[in-house]
Amino acid sequence: MLIGLTYDLRADYLAEGLSLEETAEFDRPDTIEAIEGAIRRLGHRTVRIGRLKALVKHLAKGERWDLVFNICEGRGGYGREAQVPAVLEGHGIPCTLSDSLTMALTLHKGHTKRVIRDLGVPTPDFAVVEGVAGIAGIDLPFPLFCKPVAEGTGLGVSAKSKVRDRTQLAKVCKALLKRHRQPVLVETYLPGREFTVGIIGEGARARAVGTCEVVLKDAADPAYGYANKENCEELVLYRLVDDAEAREAARVALAAYRGLGCRDTARVDLRSDAKGRPSFMEINPLPGLHPEHSDLPILCAQAGMSYDRLIGAILAGAARRVGKATGRRRRR
Ligand SMILES: Nc1ncnc2c1ncn2[C@@H]1O[C@H](COP(=O)(O)OP(=O)(O)OP(=O)(O)O)[C@@H](O)[C@H]1O
Ligand SMILES: [Mg+2]
Repeated sequence: MLIGLTYDLRADYLAEGLSLEETAEFDRPDTIEAIEGAIRRLGHRTVRIGRLKALVKHLAKGERWDLVFNICEGRGGYGREAQVPAVLEGHGIPCTLSDSLTMALTLHKGHTKRVIRDLGVPTPDFAVVEGVAGIAGIDLPFPLFCKPVAEGTGLGVSAKSKVRDRTQLAKVCKALLKRHRQPVLVETYLPGREFTVGIIGEGARARAVGTCEVVLKDAADPAYGYANKENCEELVLYRLVDDAEAREAARVALAAYRGLGCRDTARVDLRSDAKGRPSFMEINPLPGLHPEHSDLPILCAQAGMSYDRLIGAILAGAARRVGKATGRRRRR
């Protein structure tokens, strides 16, 4: 197959004047090289397309690919991860990972949790604070956890995110509203073990590849936030686990994945409540794919799945859609 690669390179945006934090989710050249290498070793041809702007130019010139391996994070608004899938859907070109609907929904952690709650999947009680006026109306028991409603890579998450009283709640929410210019998700603090579950496949074929326990070396740190993620090699331990609580985390993760309509792969983050029951925190349908630095490849390697097999599994999922209508099938 001829496979196009779409991606957002961090260096391109840094060169345009964006800050390190604003570009935290974008990719390094070695991630693109690793993905391309794995695809070529599988016997396919590749074309580097680049970001959305480049994709649109290529499409306007009439270029087409059998499918696109897409890892674009996008820029601007809650639909940013949905931009490339939506453009490709409009041109009838299949792409890897979830479709535009799932990408847009899951970027907004509040909307996602409303659907998750409706699916009967456990997730902490929560409120979405749209502005300073909404802080006083929060009626949830402390301790609470505050984070931006639509960020990744731990942006806006630090030791301050766990709040124990109204004074701290107001202070942290105000700071997050100002700094991240978006609503704040306030939810019940989960004090238990943290898990991240890697899932591959689609619908009934979806399965958990492995469940990692995320252990912060600083036991006093209440959250796996930005600083931990940027320096994960020194600050974080990832342990493949398969005890009863971990298996329950995988079961909850799979229910969330299927319910949200994810395809090919995603990583689900969970933490247990005080009674040891794993609860859904968020899902990443566009997980980092750096072979050594990103959680999903780390987890897969520990579970015995090489990087090439991971990329191959993602590609195999998308390849099933080649030659078929790319929209969701509707039952009539
Ligand atoms: N309700 C909660 N209770 C306790 N800790 C939480 C809660 N919500 C988030 N955290 C902590 O904050 C971390 C980051 O939260 P979350 O996974 O929502 O952010 P993210 O930036 O989207 O992460 P990713 O890098 O996976 O995209 C979690 O891994 C967890 O350690
Ligand atoms: Mg997370």
